[in-house]
Amino acid sequence: MKIALVPGTFDPITNGHLDVVARASQLFDHVIVAVAASEKKRPLFTLEQRVALAREATASIDNVSVEGFDELLTTFAKRKGAHVVVKGLRAITDFEYEFQMTAMNYQMDTSIETLFVMSPPEYMYLSSSIVRELASLHGDYDRFVPSCVKVALERRFADEEA
Ligand code: COA
Repeated sequence: MKIALVPGTFDPITNGHLDVVARASQLFDHVIVAVAASEKKRPLFTLEQRVALAREATASIDNVSVEGFDELLTTFAKRKGAHVVVKGLRAITDFEYEFQMTAMNYQMDTSIETLFVMSPPEYMYLSSSIVRELASLHGDYDRFVPSCVKVALERRFADEEA
């Protein structure tokens, strides 16, 4: 069985991420959305919340599961029997950073291949931090996130303002 990982911090998961997951699910037998703890990034949502949101958002795709991890991506991949990491490439600015991470991961484990899929134009400039900013300023971001994320963001910022 060919297993692929789609890793990220997913703070929160967006339609751009879901596009990558959906494409990966058509290429592999099973896809694990790997939600990194990423404590250094001081995420808005806890790891448990990010995992729950990603689970709800991907519930309709049969061959996708979601797991949190707090270790090296290569270690997690090995533990799960995954030999492929799938990432989305948006604008050219992603390239340098992704190139560095892929090279590092490759040095740590040469059996793990990284595959890039190109994001469609509507998600080219989408990121989780832009969504968080729009939500905190009550902007319109409905088309960028699944409905469970919209509800979670509204609740989070309503709590902050209360
Ligand atoms: N659509 C929409 N947004 C996307 C996207 C897409 N297709 N691809 C990436 N993004 C966004 C992410 O939401 C994130 O946004 P933000 O910074 O505004 O929150 C940003 O682009 C960066 O994404 P990404 O490169 O996936 O970084 P990440 O922090 O989400 O995840 C890990 C990086 C988790 C994959 C990486 O840190 C990791 O592997 N960590 C585990 C520890 C480890 O092994 N470290 C050594 C790595 S060499």
